[in-house]
Amino acid sequence: MADTPQHSAQVKAIFLLGFMGAGKTSVGRALARLLNWTFEDLDDRIESRERRSIEEIFRDSGETEFRRAETAALRELIAEMSSSPGIVALGGGAFTQPSNAALIWQAQGTTIFLDGSVEELFRRCEQENRVRPLCRDARQFRELYDRRRPSYLAASERIETDRKDVQAIALEVACRLGIGRKKESQTGQP
Ligand code: S3P
Repeated sequence: MADTPQHSAQVKAIFLLGFMGAGKTSVGRALARLLNWTFEDLDDRIESRERRSIEEIFRDSGETEFRRAETAALRELIAEMSSSPGIVALGGGAFTQPSNAALIWQAQGTTIFLDGSVEELFRRCEQENRVRPLCRDARQFRELYDRRRPSYLAASERIETDRKDVQAIALEVACRLGIGRKKESQTGQP
């Protein structure tokens, strides 16, 4: 891991990253409720800026144009967060683009890699009623996952998500960063 864990006063912006199906958006929402912080989903920001869905951007303009729109949306979010910190769920490919990772590090973002087995991630994507242009079949999914995993491992923290529910993962993120409420079982302990 690139950094040692940061304590609460240093955590200004949390970026959740990981492959498709990792639960970045659901965990981000749960974490925002837990901490009473604001939450933004980068894919939602792209769609509202571009006035079309991710699926339409890929279909009509291709991945290169999607990546351009993704970086523009990320820049915008980071600029807003300098005055009001919060939590951002990145799309699965965002942090693997070196220029995006550089923007996040420059903004002193705390990055959390939501990790999971490729089998579990693929199962979740298949179950969700949502079109993901880069989730085509099991073989292509695994190849992309293998290519990207080294980039995800550069995150400040890595959290295992297999067989855990969203609330438990959100709580684990907060505990790992030393922010938010402690579990009752932990109070009173040294
Ligand atoms: C992508 C993941 C998607 C979305 C786009 C590209 C990727 O987000 O940004 O379809 O490159 O892995 P999720 O990770 O939220 O599915």
